[in-house]
Amino acid sequence: MNKPTFYITTPIYYPSGNMTIGHTYTTVAADTMTRFKKMCGYDTYFLTGTDEHGQKIERKAAEAGVTPIQYVDKIVAETKDLWKLMNIEYDDFIRTTQDRHIRIVQKIFKQFYDQGDIYKAEYEGMYCTPCESFWTPTQLVEKNGEKVCPDCGRPCQPMKEESYFFRMSKYQDWMIRYIEEHPDFIQPASRANEMLNNFLRPGLQDLCVSRTSVKWGIPVDFDPKHTVYVWIDALSNYITALGYQSEDDSLFKKYWPADVHLVGKEIVRFHTIYWPIMLHALGLPLPKQVFGHGWLLFGADRMSKSKGNVVYPGPIVARYGVDALRYYLMREMPFGSDGNYTNESFLTRINADLANDLGNLVSRTVAMIEKYFGGEVPAPGAYEEADRHIIELFEALPAQVEKHMNELQFSLALGEIWKFVGELNRYIDITQPWVLGKSEEGLPRLKTVLYVLAEGVRGIAVQIYPVMPTTPERIYEQLGVSDDKLKTWDSVKKFGALPAGLTVKKGQALFPRVDVQKELEALSGGKPQEAPAKPAEKPAEKSAPAKSEDGLVTVDEFFKTKLIAAKIVACEKVEGSDKLLKSTLDIGGGETRTVLSGIAKYYTPEDMQGKTVILVKNLPPRKMKGIFSEGMLLCADDKNGNVRLLTVDGGAFAPGSEVG
Ligand code: ME8
Ligand code: MG
Repeated sequence: MNKPTFYITTPIYYPSGNMTIGHTYTTVAADTMTRFKKMCGYDTYFLTGTDEHGQKIERKAAEAGVTPIQYVDKIVAETKDLWKLMNIEYDDFIRTTQDRHIRIVQKIFKQFYDQGDIYKAEYEGMYCTPCESFWTPTQLVEKNGEKVCPDCGRPCQPMKEESYFFRMSKYQDWMIRYIEEHPDFIQPASRANEMLNNFLRPGLQDLCVSRTSVKWGIPVDFDPKHTVYVWIDALSNYITALGYQSEDDSLFKKYWPADVHLVGKEIVRFHTIYWPIMLHALGLPLPKQVFGHGWLLFGADRMSKSKGNVVYPGPIVARYGVDALRYYLMREMPFGSDGNYTNESFLTRINADLANDLGNLVSRTVAMIEKYFGGEVPAPGAYEEADRHIIELFEALPAQVEKHMNELQFSLALGEIWKFVGELNRYIDITQPWVLGKSEEGLPRLKTVLYVLAEGVRGIAVQIYPVMPTTPERIYEQLGVSDDKLKTWDSVKKFGALPAGLTVKKGQALFPRVDVQKELEALSGGKPQEAPAKPAEKPAEKSAPAKSEDGLVTVDEFFKTKLIAAKIVACEKVEGSDKLLKSTLDIGGGETRTVLSGIAKYYTPEDMQGKTVILVKNLPPRKMKGIFSEGMLLCADDKNGNVRLLTVDGGAFAPGSEVG
């Protein structure tokens, strides 16, 4: 029997520093999805790896006094250790410094050149080394009289070189049509509109695809003073890893096209414009989907190695276990949206969802079977109303979980599972086993209740496995389940597979309750991370001058507030609110922000679209109606007392331009 295949990838990460909880987020999502698809009968292939070329790595290595390959070897080894710690079961780990990759990238580049997709020309621009990005002068933003990178705010260097260019412009119309005709290609769908409106419809520039200034890269074999641009090099990994154009291309034949590329939203553009065009030029089918997930924020900012505000998973896993962290990452924020990582929200999830809801359910169930039936799972009698309710929920759950998982909505899938956990806890409250256990007449009913609970717990154990790969075994051990047939996805579609007569055994608490206050102190004591940047409206207690009585602020205080020009590329009403509008803002450098504003009385979403406005960029994200708002749009009352947005001339100010 031929199983259907499922090929999933993460970005290949820059080994310029150690991987953070942000990289872990994508990788855990890919691992979760792989485990789920495997359970559903798929032949899966999960690829991750590292993107090891480029000037930044070259410079980091020089700073460390080692060669680039020595530098990345060490970080790659540590990355693999981290993935082992996180229980990541990838099928392959591709490194762009491997010969199997380099040879094929050179072939691909040559083929583009021979076909006329790549041509040679002179290039002038500004280059941001940390971001490995070229910018045109109009894309740069001004900061303290200096032109800086719109992405990271650091100075750019002028760069002029002879380069090869990819004729992206030639494929623009094809690409637009493809995206329009394949609504599932880019997920979430809002990102497709961003790509169309911000990059494709305004006109696609040809892309500079070689460098003479970067030595640490793949040489263009027919013109060796050039190296291949990192993104052409990096994107190719998804096919070179499968042996595309190699002696043995059986994996490529079997798994390409990919089912989904998981990427952070900041690199959606590369994956949904450049990569498809490259593939199309090679005559290859496109990946079925690119999913651009949101960012784990830390304070007001994206966690990033180059910004230095980072949380690492190691110490967290050491303290609370890998499944607690995986659960939190997959549960806390909808895949696609941004969310704030905080130790508080993590510890709260441990106590509420894991220790209380799940942990207590399992320990109460096992303890009662021990107490009343000597540890033997009883056979159920006739089912009553309350039991039938649970059985119905049990049998409906796998389809609901499958639906959400197939849409990569991990938090919704877990939400459904935890609803069922809640129902089982309520079932205990309603049936009151401790009362039934008091009398001989209560025992037949008690048998049924405890069987329903034990079977319910098994159902949960099976379905949390993709997210929490080690917890189910601990539950099975307590339930006395050893038969692998009772651990399959199919086995929970019908209630009642659990055989009576198994011997349960009380074990340690699955997730011990934590003392939040104490843990917060412990985490901030030894943690490598800095406290989140102080939000602008709360000047730092110690260093800022005392607030003046007359309400004056110093220039320094004022400039803590980051104001930028931003363009509204999409806008919609927020469901369930007659005040809020949700705007998607282009803030330059291919990045977008979501902002909620209480101005639905004064503007329709159509009015908003296309306006260039002033965004307060460094407010901490705030959740309203379940959506994170990442900043605030400046407004003022007009002369009639209506709220108006402060808009600026979009022709004059590029998104990302700093005000001040
Ligand atoms: O961009 N929140 O590598 P990179 C969510 N080499 N996801 C995060 C995150 C955060 N705070 N921080 C990192 C590159 N990620 C290129 C990719 S692919 C052909 C080349 C995750 O080391 C997320 O998946 O900067 C993001 O896209 C990726 O790590 C960026 O990793
Ligand atoms: Mg990056």
